[in-house]
Amino acid sequence: MPALASTRKPNDSTTVVSPMTKVLIPGSFDPLHLGHIDVVDQAVELFGDVVLGVLVNFEKPSGLFSPDERVALARASLSERPTVTVQAFGGLAVQAAAEVGAEFIVKGLRTPNDFDIEQQMAHMNHSVTGIRTVFLPCRSDLGFISSRFIREIATNGEAIDHLVAAPVAVALADRFAGRSNE
Ligand code: PNS
Repeated sequence: MPALASTRKPNDSTTVVSPMTKVLIPGSFDPLHLGHIDVVDQAVELFGDVVLGVLVNFEKPSGLFSPDERVALARASLSERPTVTVQAFGGLAVQAAAEVGAEFIVKGLRTPNDFDIEQQMAHMNHSVTGIRTVFLPCRSDLGFISSRFIREIATNGEAIDHLVAAPVAVALADRFAGRSNE
């Protein structure tokens, strides 16, 4: 029987098939939250080299934080992960993937609803450049988190510190200081 390409054993938690593979995780990240970070960590474990791409979702072009602010907050939140870089891109996800030399696009899935649109985008992206998308299930205890609801809750002065990394919590507190139940 031929040897397996991976040396993974049943309970190995962090066995990466070598060599490192570069993947792109595209998203709005307005702002980055703990669900996103879980997907980043899974991608690091599986592939090694991760580019988090801050892209424009043309259905929600304006946001709470500017693209530069989102990049700065994501960099600060992911600074202890040496194989993760964060970059803003202006065009398509497939163009961003080509620019950085990513072999795959990686997307996190929270719910079955996420799958519908993500599957369509994966097929669209594959039809344009041939790039494949790999879906990773979000950790079950983090799957309820969404950037939209974080924005809504923080805007109205309630705490979201348990849902985001410290740099994002500080930025949201600064942005909405004094708005608690006003
Ligand atoms: O975090 P989001 O808003 O769900 O991310 C969506 C995003 C930014 C990944 C998606 O809108 C995207 O890929 N935008 C770039 C433009 C693009 O590639 N459009 C074609 C999609 S098939």
